[in-house]
Order: sequence, then C-alpha cells, then structure tokens
Amino acid sequence: MATFNSVTAPDYAPAQMIPVRARGSRVWDEQGREYIDLTSGIAVTALGHAHPQLIATLTRQAEQLWHASNVYTNLPVLKLATRLTEATFADSVFFANSGAEANEAALKLARRVAYDRFGLDSKKTRIVSFGRSFHGHTLFTVSVGGQPKYSEGFGPLPPDISHVPFNDIDAALREIDAQTCAVIVEPVQGEGGIIPATREFLEHLRSACSKHEALLIFDEVQTGIGRTGTLFAYMGHDVTPDVLTTAKALGNGFPIGALLTTSEIGKHLSAGTHGSTYGGNPLAAAVADRVVELVNTPHILEGVRDRSNSVFASLRSINSRTGMFRELRGMGLLIGAELSDSYRGRSREIMSTALDEGVMLLNAGPDVLRFAPALNIPYECLDEAFIRFEAALNKLNRDKATSSATVAAQ
Ligand SMILES: Cc1ncc(COP(=O)(O)O)c(C=O)c1O
Repeated sequence: MATFNSVTAPDYAPAQMIPVRARGSRVWDEQGREYIDLTSGIAVTALGHAHPQLIATLTRQAEQLWHASNVYTNLPVLKLATRLTEATFADSVFFANSGAEANEAALKLARRVAYDRFGLDSKKTRIVSFGRSFHGHTLFTVSVGGQPKYSEGFGPLPPDISHVPFNDIDAALREIDAQTCAVIVEPVQGEGGIIPATREFLEHLRSACSKHEALLIFDEVQTGIGRTGTLFAYMGHDVTPDVLTTAKALGNGFPIGALLTTSEIGKHLSAGTHGSTYGGNPLAAAVADRVVELVNTPHILEGVRDRSNSVFASLRSINSRTGMFRELRGMGLLIGAELSDSYRGRSREIMSTALDEGVMLLNAGPDVLRFAPALNIPYECLDEAFIRFEAALNKLNRDKATSSATVAAQ
C-alpha cells in the first residue's frame, strides 16, 4: 500500500488487502487469506473468476491474433456482433473499451442523428437524463450523469443537458419535447443507490421519445449480460430502447464495451464519424462472444432469479435479527440494502468490517450496501458469505455497544 500511495494517482482509496488469486467466487490475498466475492469486480466477473472455458477461449485467441486495428475487421468481432444482434432488438453494433466509451458513442450518435435528420437550425440537441444517474467518467458522460460531484471543477461542460428526478413521470414528460435528441436511463440505477426504474416510467419515456423523435438510450453497462435475470434488463420490462450500451460483464473482466442499435440509427455512425483503436479487438471480442454464449442460457438466467430469491431471503432474515436495513431492493443479482437511520453514512465501514470477516461487499453511496455476486455463485458459497456478513454486523454492533458503554461510564 505504501507503493500504491507513492506511485499511483490518488483517485482511488483501495482496501488494504491485495487480491492475488481467484477462482469462481473465492479470492485469496497475498497472505493466503480467503474471501467470498459478492462484488464480481463491480458487476464484471459475472461467470466468476478464472472460468475454465473463458481461459481456453482467451488462450486460443492469444495464439491466433491479438490485434490488427479497425483498418481490418476480424473473425471474433464478426461472431460477437452476429451473436449480439441475434439475441437482441439490435442489428448494428459499435465496439468500445468501456462503459463510458460506449455511452460517449451513444450520446454523440444521438446528437448526430438529430443533426443529420433535422439540421443544426432545429436546435434538437437536448439530452434528458436523471438525478443520481451514472454513465461514466468522460467529460460528456459526467455532464450527462446526475451526480454533480463527478463534474465539479471540470467545466465548462458540454451544454444542453437537463436532469429530472428519476421515476418522476410528470417531470420527465415536461422536459421531453421537440428539442430533445435523446433520453438516457439506467433500467436499475447502480451507482446512484440500486434504484429500479418502474415499468410505467420506462413505458412513458418510450412513448415520449417516439412522439418527439428522440432516441431512447438504455445504459445497461451494469444491468446487462444477465445481471437482472434476463440477458438485458429491457427484456424483463418489455420496453425496447433505440440504443443500448453494455460493458462490464460483457468481457467478464477483459475490457470491452458495445453500443447496440438498429441499422436505421447505426448508419449515422458513417465511416470516419467515430472510432476507437481497440474497439472490437480480437482478444476482447473472442472472450465476450464466449461470455454471451455462456450467459444467455436458461441455466444461468433462471439461476440468477433463484439466487436473487436466496439473497433477498438471507438479507430479510439478517434484518429481522439486526434491524440494520430500512429497505431491500433491486433486480436479479443487483441488490441494494439501504441502511436504517442509525447506520446511515456507514456503508464503507461495514464493507471494511465484512472484509475482515472474509466477505467482499460493495456500496452504492454512503447509505446503501450493494450485492452483485457472480451469476453462477454456488449456493453454499452464498450461504457462507451471509454467515460471515452477519458476523461482521454483529461485530460492529458489539463495538458500538462497547463504545457507548465506555462513554456512559465516563
Ligand atoms: C450504469 C453505468 N454506466 C456507465 C458506467 C461506466 O463504465 P466504465 O467504468 O466501464 O467506463 C458504469 C460504471 O460503473 C455504470 O454503472
């Protein structure tokens, strides 16, 4: 950690333990201590660590072709794009390296489509987004995201972006009009606190976008690739976007992002309008193709719904003994536990105590614990993780009781 502090930019505050090896849903640190992973590297390693079939695919591709640039296409990217279009509403894919880049492409595409269709004089440039949303760390995506802390100090920001409260149908309908070129929404807000969009809200966004010829963009960077129990969350809601972005679990840890759309819209990304050296790199595409093939099966997707019930049941049962949560919410294996009043603001402290007890957890803001285990986490691993988690909560409660008793005695 001393090396971390001296040679890396201080924009992260990592835990003290350094993971060195992992398999499935178990991780080991430098001292050989074992942890159960309920984070999947922030909803990334959806098929667990060191998945044997992904290792085989990556190794095979590494022996064939690593990189050739987009001056040429390559066989893995053709296979992956075909698989994604066959599995979704989309018939055109643009590849990037991350969620932010996929969203950057989506937002640029929305402005470009309006420009090509209606001309600059139409002033159809407004992007409507939602409070607490998160879409990445590039300048455009922090400006569109609904958390001002990420754009503070980086101005001037790209103009004509508005934010309305999430799940507020009336406010959204007031904002979406002829000048709107796109509405961007997470089907479940992830970083904002694990807040599912209501189906009604998404349906209203869909009809307002159709009425005003604006693109409806679903940011499925966190919810996609099986996390909510369907390949993409839009499938569970039965509301189809015009553009969908995905990343994170798409490569199970190998960096890749993608924008999915229709050919009618995709054609506006004509040659030379946008690009990326690494986008659709053969190594990333080969791995992602295998990931989508493995995830998009009843075995995995039904398993997500089953495991989701099991996680909710464990959290309810822990709450009946500790009273630490005011609300449990989420979809599939993207689950948030909002802390009750006496624990508000303490999610990082709980994560750290849980780590001491051998369980890796995430938060989603100071007041919400986030559970995003691998989609195929073994049930016995989940049970063990929640025993360790409850032990961590009890430890915190004991420490709190001891310190209150000490204060009372003084
Ligand atoms: C919904 C959503 N969109 C975009 C991003 C940004 O993705 P990346 O960190 O890969 O750029 C994230 C990351 O947490 C996310 O949760």
